[in-house]
Amino acid sequence: MGILAYLIGSFPTGVLVGKTFYHKDIRDYGSGNTGTTNTYRVLGFVPGTIVLVIDILKGTLAGLLPVLFYQNTHFFVLLFGVIAVIGHCFSIFLHFKGGKAVATSAGIALAYDWHFFLMSAVIFAIILLLTSTVSLTSIISFPLITLEAVLFNDWLLASIAALITVFIIYRHKDNIKRFMNGTEEPMHFGLRYYI
Ligand code: G3P
Repeated sequence: MGILAYLIGSFPTGVLVGKTFYHKDIRDYGSGNTGTTNTYRVLGFVPGTIVLVIDILKGTLAGLLPVLFYQNTHFFVLLFGVIAVIGHCFSIFLHFKGGKAVATSAGIALAYDWHFFLMSAVIFAIILLLTSTVSLTSIISFPLITLEAVLFNDWLLASIAALITVFIIYRHKDNIKRFMNGTEEPMHFGLRYYI
């Protein structure tokens, strides 16, 4: 079942959508990332949203796999979700390269507890509105989401969220470098366009 979770996570949504419908490999454009943000950036709103939804559902589907087989599902939902995140970032279909773990990690939260997912989505949306930059939003919101898990008094969830946070910050190392150089491009939405 671990292999199945990995294969679900490996599904190369962004690259597939780009190549199939737009004859573009998104790895050759923008940030070169295979995830939602670069799909929005390179291909636009509709394909970006499709990739967002499917990449979230990869984490959810993998997280829900153990519900069929185990009784103590909490731990296994997180475990198989994390395996899907590994597949998303080191996809067997993309020469073990891939995304930055954000959307698929959100999918784990949806499989685990939809209240937690919704609150996390609100945190993410507020920060995105304030910063207009998805990478910065990812880096800021995941530590806050870990704190949210602590406030939920769920130490298992908080530990996994902390682990994912460290990994996500590491996956954004190129974005952090671009920030330092002042070359990280914001998205074309958010409060900066209205104030
Ligand atoms: O979804 C990953 C996001 O946080 C950054 O993506 O393409 O701007 O490197 P990108």
